[in-house]
Amino acid sequence: MSDDEVNEGRRRLLIAATSAVGAVGVVGAAVPFVASWNPSAKAKAAGAPVKYNVSKLEPGQMVVVEWRGKPVYVVRRTPEALANITKLSDTTLADPDSARPMQPDYIKGDTRAIRPEFLIVVGLCTHLGCAPKYRPELGAADLGSDWKGGFFCPCHGSKFDLAGRVYKDVPAPDNLEVPPHSYESDDVVIIGVDQETA
Ligand code: FES
Repeated sequence: MSDDEVNEGRRRLLIAATSAVGAVGVVGAAVPFVASWNPSAKAKAAGAPVKYNVSKLEPGQMVVVEWRGKPVYVVRRTPEALANITKLSDTTLADPDSARPMQPDYIKGDTRAIRPEFLIVVGLCTHLGCAPKYRPELGAADLGSDWKGGFFCPCHGSKFDLAGRVYKDVPAPDNLEVPPHSYESDDVVIIGVDQETA
């Protein structure tokens, strides 16, 4: 084989490798998926805590942070969103007071948060584990004029409010899980470390 033929072979191989990487890189999402800067992928798989700087979020914005291989939704709720949470009644929600153990003990009240401005829930539907979509728009056409913003599961139609509380009469039985978390400063939340032990 001549040198030219060898180089041509190498060139083809490089093009093939580059194309494969390009195809994987095309995966996109409207909601940013935050690649954690701390710790390593191996440590994350083993269950290490993950930090996120919540000051990066605009009001109304959501990001997805990976923790223990699960998507964790972090939402910066607007004052209007918080007001709407308190307007939802017992007749709308299945577990409005979060009586079932879907959150740590220090998560109390309608907002299901340490700091009401920031909702932190595991983004897996409590029916069969699909990823609910973030639907903050009031009165969304496909969700009803009385829709107050929340999460909609596209798999079988379960609805959750902006505190992750499940609606009545949907397939999902429980509120979205709130993972253990705490704040190490005004800006940085640690997902995977309980508030008391931080
Ligand atoms: S998995 Fe969400 S409604 Fe079935």
